[in-house]
Amino acid sequence: MDLQQIRLKIDAIDDELVSLLEKRMDMAAKVAQYKKENNIPVYSPTREQEVLDRLSKKVSDNRIDVITKIYSLLFFQSRNEQENIIQGE
Ligand code: PHB
Repeated sequence: MDLQQIRLKIDAIDDELVSLLEKRMDMAAKVAQYKKENNIPVYSPTREQEVLDRLSKKVSDNRIDVITKIYSLLFFQSRNEQENIIQGE
């Protein structure tokens, strides 16, 4: 594969990633709605750890750290978005 072909593959992966991230955010919004209706706090360190533990088993050992960093940002954004929904924005 030449550089242009590789970049086309990366572009296609990015398209999928963005679409999946949006789907994840849509689900997090549903979680927020549920938590609002049931008076459950947004922050759930237990759930965050469960997600990371599950994913850690699926990735190569040398990528666990970077996946954890990426998920830290995802959780941070998800919590912010959920708080905004719960506060009625
Ligand atoms: C999430 O999966 O988006 C999530 C889980 C637990 C949290 C925050 C976000 O505390």
